[in-house]
Amino acid sequence: MSINVSLGALSLRNPTILASGILGTTASSLIRVYKSGAGAVVSKSISINPNEGYKTPVLIDLGYGYINSMGLPNPGLDEMIVEFKVVKSKKVKLFGSIFASDIDEFKYLASKLTDYVDALELNLSCPTKMGVGLEIGKIPWMVEETTREVYKKSKVPVIVKLPPLVTLIDELTLAAEDGGASAVTLTNTAKAMKIDVFSKKPILQGVYGGLSGKALKPLSLACVFKAYEVLSIPIIGCGGIYSWEDAVEYILAGAKAIQIGSAIVSEGLGIFKKICIGIKKYLEENNIDKINDLVGLAHRR
Ligand SMILES: Cc1cc2nc3c(=O)[nH]c(=O)nc-3n(C[C@H](O)[C@H](O)[C@H](O)COP(=O)(O)O)c2cc1C
Repeated sequence: MSINVSLGALSLRNPTILASGILGTTASSLIRVYKSGAGAVVSKSISINPNEGYKTPVLIDLGYGYINSMGLPNPGLDEMIVEFKVVKSKKVKLFGSIFASDIDEFKYLASKLTDYVDALELNLSCPTKMGVGLEIGKIPWMVEETTREVYKKSKVPVIVKLPPLVTLIDELTLAAEDGGASAVTLTNTAKAMKIDVFSKKPILQGVYGGLSGKALKPLSLACVFKAYEVLSIPIIGCGGIYSWEDAVEYILAGAKAIQIGSAIVSEGLGIFKKICIGIKKYLEENNIDKINDLVGLAHRR
């Protein structure tokens, strides 16, 4: 029973991938996650210069998911290249996540990182100078243009990660495909908030944060299902995956691989192997030879 998957030119030993932002800033943690069984690991999103992020509280545990407002803290490009060299020396399948506020910055990051990673993942959930403060990932022409310019600078496949905007997701993913993306990751967190009834104020300094975990799953799953109907490139599902059943749901909706973030907090690093074992067993019980034959099955009536 084979569970290796190919995402265009990329081949992974299994479909489970570490999502960006969780254990992704140091070589030792990225290597540890890969050794624990992930098919690939995505780094924390990197900017050109070091970024300190926001003041606490940066993470709210809702019980049914998390709202985070980290502000994309990272040590910056130069320091991450040092870490990536170590990760690559261990033959780890590594995706470098990048974020920037305009196309020139994205191009610069891509050209500097392309030699040290197996793929670039564009985190487009950041305010842009082009759209004066609007998020790139919400506007199809910006998604297409940013993807195209990064694609021109990159020697490795470009993956575009988008927000869980179910009503717009077909346009956004098609824009990424038209720009030259090899795959899309669906999805990033959803804009969300929490109010403290005692202080009568929003809890997070920046008011809004990103919803992840169990509460996000139905939204991200709907994005995968909808995008699968229009796209030719592979989809990586992401959002609230805690078990093999969650992973199989995403695959049935149309994902070829899946990313895991929040679940690591409660399930630990054993989750990658556990999900792979569950998928293999499911394939066996359903007499399906290859994971590929499962992709998108929920669409056939
Ligand atoms: C604490 C935290 C930090 C995150 N940082 C990033 C990041 O730097 N870049 C990014 O593209 N996504 C980031 N994300 C989003 C995750 O990669 C993922 O898309 C999202 O959390 C949904 O998956 P999950 O429900 O499995 O966590 C972060 C999520 C969390 C919870």
